[in-house]
Amino acid sequence: MSVHSEIKRVTTSVLQSMKDRGEKIACLTAYDYSMASLVDAAGVELILVGDSASNVMAGHETTLPITLDQMIYHAQSVIRGVKRSLVVVDLPFGSYQGNSTQALKSAIRIMKESGAHAVKMEGGKEIEESITRVLSAGIPVMGHLGLTPQSIYKFGGYSVRAKSEEEASLLKSNAKLLNDLGCFGVVLEKIPQSLAEEVTASLEIPTIGIGAGNGCDGQILVIHDMLGINKEFSPRFLRRYADLHTEMTNAFTHYIKDVKSGDFPNEQESY
Ligand code: KIV
Repeated sequence: MSVHSEIKRVTTSVLQSMKDRGEKIACLTAYDYSMASLVDAAGVELILVGDSASNVMAGHETTLPITLDQMIYHAQSVIRGVKRSLVVVDLPFGSYQGNSTQALKSAIRIMKESGAHAVKMEGGKEIEESITRVLSAGIPVMGHLGLTPQSIYKFGGYSVRAKSEEEASLLKSNAKLLNDLGCFGVVLEKIPQSLAEEVTASLEIPTIGIGAGNGCDGQILVIHDMLGINKEFSPRFLRRYADLHTEMTNAFTHYIKDVKSGDFPNEQESY
């Protein structure tokens, strides 16, 4: 029997035991109650209230503009729909990079005001103090290395990270640091598969990949992307499990046609 079918509520130790038993961890993002309810009931282990909400919910070009208040609003909505999954919330850009006191305050606000179970922060050595401080308050922390979208203007684009020896070696030491500090997991975004495999084998904690190949302990996708809502975004790593862009457009045009023709509402749909 898998760990998955035995548990009532997914905790960080459940994720750890999944890694230890070689059972893959399925994760998705969600930003609202309805979607979170569906994703939770389907059985993912981890729901990330990602700052990708800045892109897919608010229409910003990057994740930088989303605020802590807005992340808390999304997290509150998600938590209301979740019975089983572990809910992790991104600390948004500007809410933790200042110093460790700011990081702790932001993490505490997320935990207190949303009821979420953990936070995620982008970076390694440069935010070591902040991670330590948040962990010291008993708040589980997930790391995020490789392509870290909050640093997009430093990278200058969304290309694959850590292809050079130098960047790969920095990533490996940062991954080891996050492991040793006590993070419960780390997202590896858009890095070569061989590097993700090496990091995964070297860490005790689970790695969750996005664009990092199938050697990670688990996978995550942004829900709007895997549902095919946005046709324009099609990186190589993305597998679309539905074509909701077409499905939804068809539904909307059908509805418009029915309203204009007077077909909707009919007798049965009226009081
Ligand atoms: O914000 C987000 O959705 C993320 C995932 C891509 C891992 O950080």
